[in-house]
Amino acid sequence: MIPPSAVRPPLVVLDSIHLNLASSAGQVNVLRGLDLEVAEGETLGVVGPSGSGKSTLLMVMAGLERPTSGGVRVAGHDLTAMNEDALARFRRDGVGIVFQSFHLVPTMTAVENVAVPLELAGRGDAFAAAAAALGRVGLAHRLDHTPGQLSGGEQQRVALARASVARPRLLLADEPTGNLDGATGRAVIDLLFELNAELGTTLVLVTHDDGLAARCRRVVRVEDGRVIP
Ligand SMILES: Nc1ncnc2c1ncn2[C@@H]1O[C@H](COP(=O)(O)OP(=O)(O)O)[C@@H](O)[C@H]1O
Ligand SMILES: [Mg+2]
Repeated sequence: MIPPSAVRPPLVVLDSIHLNLASSAGQVNVLRGLDLEVAEGETLGVVGPSGSGKSTLLMVMAGLERPTSGGVRVAGHDLTAMNEDALARFRRDGVGIVFQSFHLVPTMTAVENVAVPLELAGRGDAFAAAAAALGRVGLAHRLDHTPGQLSGGEQQRVALARASVARPRLLLADEPTGNLDGATGRAVIDLLFELNAELGTTLVLVTHDDGLAARCRRVVRVEDGRVIP
């Protein structure tokens, strides 16, 4: 019998990605021929120096940045061929993102922020499920606080709850333990790996944290806009 992993295509295929952005100092070649495949159910750590293109790589996988050239396939979709509406639906239905700067809505409470993806998906139990997700990251006592009333670490945990609450197939996190102290950081890492073990969520985690990288099944290094061998 052929094992499923041998016949299943990778969940993510980035093929020779180049991404050039205009800046005041001229054009910046942010990604320069980046190749990467991520298997379904994998836990992948992404490490590398500051400015090497790690955050941009996550944005390309999420369909938030369009490469200048190269192929992007995620869960069978060719992201380069999709318009903005199709990309928004693709993200809503299958991708969770924890941004480095959280991107919480400042006028909404924690539970409202986390409920957004569930409400977009038409879930009647959005608020109950959002409250449960906040409980899992240790914020049951902060449901009605707005981001401005929360610490950086607490905002990071709200962002993680929001990214994972709709049980996405692919969860992308940019330095998810960056603002968290030891015990809280470990609890957040445990949650990420529970999602992987229980639901098969594919994790791609940009990190400077050796402890987090060590828990990933595979680690790749990005330098100068490429994955280096
Ligand atoms: N919108 C942008 N315009 C111009 N340059 C950018 C933009 N976003 C990122 N860059 C540049 O691209 C490079 C890679 O950025 P980034 O992906 O954030 O790196 P990392 O996450 O590895 O620190 C950096 O040199 C950064 O200055
Ligand atoms: Mg970054």
